[in-house]
Amino acid sequence: MTTANTPIKGLMRTHHCGELTAADLGKLVTLCGWVNKYRNLGSLHFIDLRDKYGVTQLGFVEFRGNIEDLKRCSLESVIKITGTVTARPIEAQNANMPTGAIEVQVLELTVLSKSDIDNIPFLPFGSVEASEDLRLKYRYLELRTKKLQDILLLRSRTMNKIRSLLVDEEFVEVETPILYKSTPEGARDYIVPSRVHPGQVYALPQSPQTLKQLLMIGGTDKYFQICRCFRDEDLRADRQPEFSQVDIEVSFSTQEYMKNLVEKILKKVFDLKDSFVLPMMTYQEAMTTYGCDKPDVRFGLKQLVVTEIFKNSEFATFSTVANSNGIIKAMFVPESVGQFTRKDTDAFVEIVKPHGGKGVAFYKLSKGERSTGISKFITEEIEAKLFQHLESLGEIKSDGTWLFFADLESSVAHASADALRRLLGQKLNLIGKENSFLWVYDFPLLEWSPEGQRYTACHHPFTMPSRDKLDVFMNADHKDPHGPLRTLTAEAYDVVCNGYEIGGGSIRIYDQSVQDRMFKVLGFTPEETKNQFGFFIEALKYGVPPHGGLAFGLDRLIMMLTGTDSIRDVIAFPKTTSASDLMSQAPSRPSEAQLKELHFNWTTSSKG
Ligand code: AMO
Repeated sequence: MTTANTPIKGLMRTHHCGELTAADLGKLVTLCGWVNKYRNLGSLHFIDLRDKYGVTQLGFVEFRGNIEDLKRCSLESVIKITGTVTARPIEAQNANMPTGAIEVQVLELTVLSKSDIDNIPFLPFGSVEASEDLRLKYRYLELRTKKLQDILLLRSRTMNKIRSLLVDEEFVEVETPILYKSTPEGARDYIVPSRVHPGQVYALPQSPQTLKQLLMIGGTDKYFQICRCFRDEDLRADRQPEFSQVDIEVSFSTQEYMKNLVEKILKKVFDLKDSFVLPMMTYQEAMTTYGCDKPDVRFGLKQLVVTEIFKNSEFATFSTVANSNGIIKAMFVPESVGQFTRKDTDAFVEIVKPHGGKGVAFYKLSKGERSTGISKFITEEIEAKLFQHLESLGEIKSDGTWLFFADLESSVAHASADALRRLLGQKLNLIGKENSFLWVYDFPLLEWSPEGQRYTACHHPFTMPSRDKLDVFMNADHKDPHGPLRTLTAEAYDVVCNGYEIGGGSIRIYDQSVQDRMFKVLGFTPEETKNQFGFFIEALKYGVPPHGGLAFGLDRLIMMLTGTDSIRDVIAFPKTTSASDLMSQAPSRPSEAQLKELHFNWTTSSKG
């Protein structure tokens, strides 16, 4: 009988290179792999043979072939050997290697594929010495490294864990189209011209959002898919133009169900204790205390909003901001946590500049004396209030440095405080090793876009406004940037880990008039709504189960599991920050014949 554990016959080898131990002494074995090292000690020759499972040392004392043939075994050549497992002399044993007690005495050797070692761009073992561009160009070589093979394995196992959990919970995996229509998630679409329909395009899905909702309308009840999403947006260390989601949608679900499901998934994926409860934080608290909606709560340096304290200050910069509807945030760094030189505080401005910040005001308190920075404007009374406020966060008064972030735009002050906090967390070694998770909820529904002069959806246009304010949503002026629409919250939530957004979702609109109104608020004309989403709005007419869902960013989940801070490490064939594939040289110019077939009139000159 064949069981799952019975090896499938037919491989060229009998064992892999990480497998043989003293228990195999005397066995005749066949191994295949890459030449990792060749040592010629005159009368003795050794090859370290490598595959993804490990390294086995080969000896040639009993070799039946011509020893000169070994010269053909250049590093990274693929060879096949047959030989006998023998014990290494005691002094040559290596307790740190699983195969360190044995070597295989080779009887026969075949070079299956000789490598051009003189021209190989880099050697894929040890610490690879090559620029990232070179590694990406020859990604198949880098994939031979243990680091990348371990990540691929972890990624595959994680996907399996999630799949099996969801299948146990009666979820059905459904594949949805890639050639589709625009699904707005806030980025630009990648589009594919149609040959059959001149002048028309498909859009690649930014996510399967409308499709998974249609699956709910179609009675699927519990859907999931490990799917690919495509977004043309500015790339960052945690963003790729095509990435994977674990996409989930559930009929008759509540936010509570979604949080419980996420807890269950996190427990399984991160091997957390059964008692793990996902901590919750409102969006407002996250912004006030950490300056961002995905705070890294592995360390303190919490922020305070201290605008009121500076309303009557003699420091004109602060009192002007405080009296003009601006915001002043403060962060206290106790002396025991970190101390700053003039050079340090001068450099802070460079950290906040990319976020629109003009600078970071500060002063020091040492042995009860205030000095440096804006100390001359800090009265006893102001200081007492600052510490009073700090104590309300559970921190005690001590010597240290106060840092301030003031701006007329609250988003600038928050982003500046967040950027400096993250930097200090790293520089001052404050970040713990344990993963730290958060459920951030009560997000704003809409934000005003000054460029577009209209509201945009904070999550996406299918998100349910908080039900207790539905009448405001339906009736308030959607052209007023300061009107009540700005204050509405949504039934939207994010899953945050170590300062990264690893997932996000919402409870959806399931009423046609609310969905219609949403498109109107977002500035779509009735015509545009009909053209782009007519099919979806119509589906809301024929009986819709209330539903909600979420999507995990699979790549970011794997980043957290591996502890890497580059998303490129966790994707087999990633793109650069300018969305190119250096290996295949994509994107590339289509051939003239393709352009013609696609009815393309290509006027812009571009790289060939
Ligand atoms: P959202 O746009 O928040 O929601 O995406 C869900 C998660 O996907 C990951 N993510 C990305 N990962 C890598 N590169 C990118 N460019 C990228 N963009 C997003 C993030 C994010 O939390 N349809 C909704 C989900 C829902 O409402 O159910 C959606 O896509 O980890």
